[in-house]
Amino acid sequence: MSDIHELEKQILSSINEAGDLAALEKIRVSALGKKGSVSALMKGVGKLPPDERKSFGQQVNGVRQALDKALAEKKTALADAALAERLATETADISLPVRMGPLSEGRVHPISQCMEEISEIFADMGFSVAEGPDIEDDFHNFTALNIPADHPARQEQDTFYFPKRADGSRLVLRTHTSPVQIRTMETQKPPIRIIAPGRVYRCDSDQTHTPMFHQVEGLVIDEETHMGHLKWVLEEFLKAFFEVDEVQMRFRANHFPFTEPSMEVDIRYERSGREVRIGTGDQWMEILGCGMVHPNVLKAVGYDPDQLQGFAFGVGIDRLAMLKYGMPDLRDFFSADLRWLKHYGFSVLDVPTLAGGLGA
Ligand code: PHE
Repeated sequence: MSDIHELEKQILSSINEAGDLAALEKIRVSALGKKGSVSALMKGVGKLPPDERKSFGQQVNGVRQALDKALAEKKTALADAALAERLATETADISLPVRMGPLSEGRVHPISQCMEEISEIFADMGFSVAEGPDIEDDFHNFTALNIPADHPARQEQDTFYFPKRADGSRLVLRTHTSPVQIRTMETQKPPIRIIAPGRVYRCDSDQTHTPMFHQVEGLVIDEETHMGHLKWVLEEFLKAFFEVDEVQMRFRANHFPFTEPSMEVDIRYERSGREVRIGTGDQWMEILGCGMVHPNVLKAVGYDPDQLQGFAFGVGIDRLAMLKYGMPDLRDFFSADLRWLKHYGFSVLDVPTLAGGLGA
């Protein structure tokens, strides 16, 4: 009689002292497992005289139940304690400053930053970004853009040619982003509304020209887009890019084979000390070429010029970047001077957004 209570007390106290789930499991097995002490008592019931069997059996069962309950309670208590311990030790202090690493050392080149800014502005006006290869064929860079083989514009653009191929044709480094107009129209159905930022190449080098530079092309094609839209889009773009309320533009008649009519656009600016103010002032600066897409270009991609029309423009990004961020010499852009990049470059975290301010 007292044996069984002694045993129960002992087991209960060892349950109480168990330090972890593994220890608890050991106790359970040694008491209630196949060869456990309480299970052994249970087996002994059958050997008792019949009049003792019932009450002893009930006692052993009571002990079992008490142990089961104690084990379950201890298990929950241990699990809770383990969780509390983890919560207390595995905290992350999100108010700590960002750890400085290689990411904060690196700089985004001002040209890349400007391309992001430009994309952001045009995305807001419903344009998507299109791309084309830097190495172009004659058709996309010239012919489809209404520049036939004997056209003087082929000389004007100081093209870098690759060696002749077996069939006599030569690939070129694209001289402008306009071939992306063709590639886009070849693969997409109108209405079209894209910009195409990228590298272009011309055999030319001095303080304001580098053999590789950057343009962003714009193209809008549908049934009724007209020059008023072109003017509005350019004005909105320039105001957003230079972060000014007013940009005065001057459209000068010009000639591009792929637009008709064609125009060059100047914007007003002024210098005060070392600063250049954009939008107003008494000087004009040429910043882009544009016009209504020439019917021959539409025909070259299989569009019907009696049904479709639109405008295109090409802006020099390097010039815009120089103006916006006050960098005096174009050649520095490409001299890979880390000191220059540290000074004029942007943090990777300075992602330009219209809401957050494009100037970063
Ligand atoms: N491709 C022209 C250039 O490089 C710019 C331009 C683009 C003009 C689109 C009109 C329309 O000078």
